[in-house]
Amino acid sequence: MNEKYTGLAETAIQSIEKIAGTHPGFRRAHAKGCFYQAVFVPNGEAAPYTKAVHLQQRPVPAVVRFSDSSPNPNMIDSLSPVKGMSVQFHLPNGEETYLVSVNVPVFLTKTPEAFVEMMRLAAEGPGPRDLMKLFIDYPESKAAFQILKQMKPFVSYSTSRYFPIHTFYFVNEAGDRQPVKYEWIPEKAFSAEAKKEAVTHPADYLEKELEDELPVSFTLSIILGKPGDATDDSTVLWPEDRPRISVGRLEIREKILQPNDRVIFDPTVLPDGIECSNDPVLHARQAIYAASSLRRFNGL
Ligand code: HEM
Repeated sequence: MNEKYTGLAETAIQSIEKIAGTHPGFRRAHAKGCFYQAVFVPNGEAAPYTKAVHLQQRPVPAVVRFSDSSPNPNMIDSLSPVKGMSVQFHLPNGEETYLVSVNVPVFLTKTPEAFVEMMRLAAEGPGPRDLMKLFIDYPESKAAFQILKQMKPFVSYSTSRYFPIHTFYFVNEAGDRQPVKYEWIPEKAFSAEAKKEAVTHPADYLEKELEDELPVSFTLSIILGKPGDATDDSTVLWPEDRPRISVGRLEIREKILQPNDRVIFDPTVLPDGIECSNDPVLHARQAIYAASSLRRFNGL
């Protein structure tokens, strides 16, 4: 556990609770979600870069959780555009690893402290001056804010791309380290709809829609970074021309009716052959998710 972020994690959770209220037993973010049984079939293309066991040739079972980003477990699907797709890979040695992604390619801030400060301000109900100060203090947030502003509600969880955002390092048998970013690409074409159409759907339409569509699948793509590409700053994208490789296919087969909801989708839990980058937001998430899960596991 990264104790450096324990205090920050508490402030983060308290700010979320102040903004959205406390919903006992639920995640403090991405509270509303549904679980699915899946299988990930790697194609061997990642093997020159990583010895990670789930990225070689053998299929591995997986669990997928789609979620709405809000801390409100009763959130209406069409009202919040940011959605999550979390994947738990069950490795042959009994261990697990996670890829936790959202439908936005960049994060709002370079540091977890800046994000928590934004949440603290939001919790206190910022005045126009505070908001102005935010944009001056955190110009790096502009890209994410602009994407968020243009986002439209989903038609289905199965028609979006999802981004784990942070950089990770792949390490191969020879010990070579390659910075990578990931992307999940849907087999179906992307489709969004106008807000006024989406609001006519029932509150939980995304879960129902996916149930009718199963099985659905996604290709896992990796992007290879080059020297000089930002590896510790999730507010910037790498240049478009970086090589992309498809490394496997995730088939989502069946809804899990009684899921084990005590799982923590912690993006820093990695197998031999994959390492975290120095992105401080990535490292803080470990402490923040631990604080959130401790509360929900205790029915708080
Ligand atoms: C400092 C920044 C962040 C904060 C404060 C934060 C906060 C949280 C919290 C409290 C949870 C609930 C954890 C649990 O109870 O298990 C959560 C879940 C989640 N977060 Fe974050 N998060 C941050 C950054 C990110 C980033 C960069 C991503 C994008 C990849 C992300 C995507 C998700 C997803 C998809 C879930 C749902 C996981 C699941 O299905 O259980 N978060 N976040």
